[in-house]
Amino acid sequence: MEHSFGDKVFFCNSGAEANEAALKLARKYGRDHFGEHKTEIIACINSFHGRTLFTVSVGGQAKYSQDYAPLPPGISHVAFNDIAALEAAISDKTCAVIIEPVQGESGILPATQEYLEAARRLCDQYNALLIFDEVQTGVGHTGKLFAYEHYGVKPDIMSLAKALGCGFPIGAIVTTDAIAPTFGPGTHGSTFGGNPLACAVANRAFDIINTPETLSHVQTQGEKLQTALQQIGERTGVFKQVRGMGLLLGAVMADQYENRAGEIFNAALKHGLMVLVAGPNVVRFAPSLLLNNEDLQEGMQRLEVAINEWLAA
Ligand SMILES: Cc1ncc(COP(=O)(O)O)c(C=O)c1O
Repeated sequence: MEHSFGDKVFFCNSGAEANEAALKLARKYGRDHFGEHKTEIIACINSFHGRTLFTVSVGGQAKYSQDYAPLPPGISHVAFNDIAALEAAISDKTCAVIIEPVQGESGILPATQEYLEAARRLCDQYNALLIFDEVQTGVGHTGKLFAYEHYGVKPDIMSLAKALGCGFPIGAIVTTDAIAPTFGPGTHGSTFGGNPLACAVANRAFDIINTPETLSHVQTQGEKLQTALQQIGERTGVFKQVRGMGLLLGAVMADQYENRAGEIFNAALKHGLMVLVAGPNVVRFAPSLLLNNEDLQEGMQRLEVAINEWLAA
C-alpha cells in the first residue's frame, strides 16, 4: 500500500462490512495485547458507520439503532469536534476511537485540525486504535486520495467503500503490519471479499482516480462548485453556508428554510438533477470526480431554476 499509511488490506463488500471488520479488529487487538478489559469503543454523536447491528450501534444516530435493541455493549458517544468530551470519555478500557474525518450522512461537517490531532494524541496515550471511517471521504472525493491527508493525521485503521469500486460493490480496511496479524486464520473472513471481479474494477478505478491530474481536477471543480453554490445561496437566500472538501460539499439551509433540504432534493429531481441530502438541513453534492465544466454549469443552472420554482410555489 504505497499510497496510504497502511501495509495490509482486508477486502469485503460494503462500507458497513468494512467498519464491522475495523471494529472487530480493534476489539481483538485490544484484548490480545492489553487484556479482557480493553473493549470500549468511542464514537461521535451523529456519525454514520453502516447498518449492521454493530455499526448502527457505533453510529451516533439513535434512529438507525433503536428498533434493534438490545445493542452490543461497550460503546459510548461523544460530541463531534469536542476535544474535552473525548478527553473525558477515553480511558485504559478504550480499544478504539472511530471518527469520520468529514461527517457525511449527518451534514458534510469536516473535523477540525485540532480535533483529529487530539484524537491521535489521546489514542496513543491510552493505547487505543484510531479508526478513520473514510467510506464516504476516501478515494478522491475530498481532492486528496484520503481525507486524513488534509490533516496530516494518520489513523491505525481506515475503512473504505463507495468510490473504491466507483459503483461496484467493494469495501476494504487498511491497517498496519503491527495490527493486521490480529486477524489470524479463521478469525474473520468473507466469501466474496476480495473476489477477482470487484478487485479488478476497484483496481482500474483506483488507477484513474489516483493521479495528480484527477485529484487536482477534483480540487479545482470542487472550488468552482462551492463558489457556484455560495452564489446561488446569496441570490436565492436558501443556503446560509456551503461546507465540505473537494467534490463532497454540503449546502446548509438558511434559518427560515430549516430542515427542508428534502424539498430541494425533490425540486432538483423534477429538473433532472440528482442531489442528495445529508440530514434534514443539508443538501449534499457528491458528483462524479470527473465532473466537467459544462455539466457543472448545467447542473447549477438547473438547481437555481428548481430552487426559484420551489420558492414561488
Ligand atoms: C461514513 C460512512 N460509513 C459507512 C457507510 C456504510 O456504507 P455501505 O452503505 O456501503 O454499507 C456509509 C454509507 O453511507 C458512510 O457514509
